[in-house]
Amino acid sequence: MKLQHVIESQQFTLPMLNELFGLADQMGALIGRGGTLDYQHKIMASLFYEPSTRTRFSFESAMLRLGGKIMSTERAQDFSSVSYGESLDDTIRVVAHYADVIVLRHNQIGAVKRAAAISSIPVINAGDGKGGQHPTQALLDLYTIYKETQTIDGVKVALVGNLLDGRTVRSLAYLLGKFERVKIYFVAPTTLQMRQDILEYLNRHHVWYTLESDFLKILPEVDVVYMTRIEEEKMPAASIEKPFKRYFIDEEVMKLMKSDAILMHPLPRLNEISPAVDTDPRAAYFRQTKNGVCIRMALLASVLNP
Ligand code: CP
Repeated sequence: MKLQHVIESQQFTLPMLNELFGLADQMGALIGRGGTLDYQHKIMASLFYEPSTRTRFSFESAMLRLGGKIMSTERAQDFSSVSYGESLDDTIRVVAHYADVIVLRHNQIGAVKRAAAISSIPVINAGDGKGGQHPTQALLDLYTIYKETQTIDGVKVALVGNLLDGRTVRSLAYLLGKFERVKIYFVAPTTLQMRQDILEYLNRHHVWYTLESDFLKILPEVDVVYMTRIEEEKMPAASIEKPFKRYFIDEEVMKLMKSDAILMHPLPRLNEISPAVDTDPRAAYFRQTKNGVCIRMALLASVLNP
């Protein structure tokens, strides 16, 4: 598969997803064999305007396992000429002469799309803005669901937490909507519910979804519980205590989940998943991070010519 840029989930068709997952499987086997030197003449620039642990390190790990080299700025706004006021456009034009692919995280919705439009090399969206997209996270999430449940058609997924600002859930909703008979439960306080643009997309594509605020009611019904951060300060002022506690999983709440359901989280977590459930086999969030390296290797291979 040849990709020019990775900007948003909508750009992936079902055949592309199947091919990507096959490639990710091969990358997993490649890691087991110690990686490759196929991309030793390629350089990846990771340009992060927001903090990151998983996305930046897993992209860098992916590039190194492909044999490539990396250049990295973890706080571009402080540690690059952006601190003097250099525009994103100028930064991209310059970095494009130094690297073969740019992995960009930015605090503005649409910034990565704008960067790709003026870049002479591939640009990969590592997350853009609150309420933007995080397509590579969604791809690794979908890959995890595929690996853990064997199929995505017919899966029932609860997306839980601050859905208003969460870019991972937005990107994942687009991807889930491509499969047959999927049911999506958006579980959040009404003030933090999924934005209308995603709901309209799902309506247009005849995807079943429901908006819910009762987390405990939904838990026994679904195959995948996808938790996201729900910051206490984001809760409605009059109801901080109770709703926050409602979107919380510990050993007791976990008993409500199906025995073969899985619990996912893009991480980092705040209080929404108790560390006491980490050893439950249904807790898939650390396996999810491992899958991220395979998916990101597959994406890098798809935008680079070795
Ligand atoms: N899931 C995710 O995007 O994590 P980071 O913010 O650590 O990259």
